Amino acid sequence: MLLQQLRHLIGTKRAIPDRLAKIRELKAMIGNPVAVDLVERSTAPESFSSRGEKIVRQRLQRLQKYNATAARKPPIAMLQKIALQSIDLATERHITDVVKIAEAIFENLPPAQKQALNMNRKMASAAAALHDFGKLLVPSAVLRKTAPLTEKDWALIKQHPLFSEILLTLFGFSAETANAAKQHHLSYDLQSGYPAGFFSKLSEVSRLVAVADAIEAMTAGRFNRQPKSMVGAMKQLHAGEGTQFDPKYAEALIVAFRKDSSFRQWWKARREQYRLRRSSEPRALERKRLPNTRRVLDDRQ
Ligand SMILES: [Fe+2]
Ligand SMILES: [Fe+2]
Repeated sequence: MLLQQLRHLIGTKRAIPDRLAKIRELKAMIGNPVAVDLVERSTAPESFSSRGEKIVRQRLQRLQKYNATAARKPPIAMLQKIALQSIDLATERHITDVVKIAEAIFENLPPAQKQALNMNRKMASAAAALHDFGKLLVPSAVLRKTAPLTEKDWALIKQHPLFSEILLTLFGFSAETANAAKQHHLSYDLQSGYPAGFFSKLSEVSRLVAVADAIEAMTAGRFNRQPKSMVGAMKQLHAGEGTQFDPKYAEALIVAFRKDSSFRQWWKARREQYRLRRSSEPRALERKRLPNTRRVLDDRQ
């Protein structure tokens, strides 16, 4: 919450008396130089549009409300609501679907492989549900932009894994969940993705989430891209095995696509939803609701 306040104080166009003194005070209260540095680097002074500012103010009020109800650990259902709904609708859909895909990957691992992992289904779900939490600190105008992203936009977006890690740590989530969020945009061979240079090895759960995240993005048709079909996604999984993707998670998702009937059914309903959305038939969309995949996820002690 203090990070949001800092972002607001730096970015608002409103005249704030003693702005610099207040910023100094807030930084001292946050006491985490890495988090402060990230917020400062990603927020140009007095740069918020009035609409952007209104959205930031709403998020801030929501976070303040949560903070008032539980000083150190906000109720998980509320946090989940923030993760799902406070960013934007496309991100909400993305997060919900990444959870479903991550669970299918976990469930379709060969039993021996599953047992050898230091991970359970709950960990995979939690990491998937919260991987983009840091997007709360990326301006909505950038997340929603349909025009080509500028270099500055990309610089902001590329901060979100680090923001996720910081926020999840502040909210008391396990190091595994926070770490998975920090690593989810790095390729399996560490040769591409961001943030680069922090790691020599990725956690298992982050590699699983990375597969679910990438496949969701390429099949949802976001950013005006034509969505890939199931066959297209499988081709991409094959092509990226060992470089972009951990082969065992890529293979498990291919198995889910081929043989997991409940996952295939969900996938079909999801495709249909996107088709209807593209052809803008709100009524038909209303009737064809996807099965609810939200659930309470809490790995905090
Ligand atoms: Fe992400
Ligand atoms: Fe994501």
